[in-house]
Amino acid sequence: MVEIAGTDMVKFAKNGSNVTTAAAKVARAFTGRPLICVPRQHPFFSFDDWFIGATAIKRGIPEVHHATTLLFDYGDLASLQALFAQHPGQIAGVMLEPATTVGPCDGAPGYDRLRPPTAVVAQWPGNFLKLVQDLCRREGALFILDEMITGFRWDLHGAQKLFGVQPDLSTFGKGMANGFAVAALVGRREVMEVGAINRPGQERTFLVSTTHGGEMASLAAFRETVAVYEEQDVVGHLWNYGGKLMTGLEEAAREAGVGSAFQLQGNAISMNYLTFDAQGQPSLPLRTLFSQEMIRHGVLMPWIAPSFAHRDGELQRTLEAARKALAVYAQALEAGAERFLEGPAIKPVFRQFN
Ligand SMILES: Cc1ncc(COP(=O)(O)O)c(C=O)c1O
Repeated sequence: MVEIAGTDMVKFAKNGSNVTTAAAKVARAFTGRPLICVPRQHPFFSFDDWFIGATAIKRGIPEVHHATTLLFDYGDLASLQALFAQHPGQIAGVMLEPATTVGPCDGAPGYDRLRPPTAVVAQWPGNFLKLVQDLCRREGALFILDEMITGFRWDLHGAQKLFGVQPDLSTFGKGMANGFAVAALVGRREVMEVGAINRPGQERTFLVSTTHGGEMASLAAFRETVAVYEEQDVVGHLWNYGGKLMTGLEEAAREAGVGSAFQLQGNAISMNYLTFDAQGQPSLPLRTLFSQEMIRHGVLMPWIAPSFAHRDGELQRTLEAARKALAVYAQALEAGAERFLEGPAIKPVFRQFN
């Protein structure tokens, strides 16, 4: 059994978007306020209009939705304070991922990107999640953590445990049931109860209801997955493997002479590779080239997510492919990536035109 501290109630669903949208709705219903804040650096919370209306892809979404989600900068409390100042009494909740490749305590003394953050690190006064939590409490807005990616990976009890915070609501999905379709909205009773159906006379909130919501195989898979996580220290393996992969890729980049043009960002459990051209500018053609060359050597790695299935063999195979890919990368830095690309370069997802 996995227990998320401070959580009294849960609503299960099939997709992450179902529960983040439900969290936004609960926050609005609970506070009676219309607006939700999310960090502009966090790419995705839901396919529903409340979130997509705030991206570059507004087509098909009525204008009324474009202004109900407000953007601030992760790590910059002043940018969130400014939103509260501009919209007094209007912000229902702040939703964010606890961490991505950028975390809330990255600058803390003792922070080690190869290990889970310690309690000492979490107590750092600059802990961004604690600052957001305090601000939300002062302003009467709900503090909502979307643990879709961090949950069951950073820690079995969520990144919230590692960073010493207690959200009013949190959402989980993805790794919960090892690929089976389960997501969850969890939170404290007082807040979650706006979605309850057993309180006579209470105004109703339509939380989530889907035909396949009651499908049981996924819930059984969830229980079994948690048992495996506990018995086999899956989280420990992910940190350990991720650390070896991260340092191995950095070493491969240095050996290929591209240490500053191919960099690893983040930490052992949540990393990304960044690709820069000879002028030091971020380069999507070079990112595409790296991916292309990795595929040539049998490794599909458009992004990095360590898995329990990754073992020493996979590590060696990945690093060997990376050494070969980075040798081509080094040539492309001199001659231009276009000369080596076999197809078009990738583009960002959130752009207005294809
Ligand atoms: C942080 C985050 N929240 C929510 C979602 C939505 O989850 P789903 O794709 O299961 O609807 C995603 C999916 O990529 C996500 O990464």
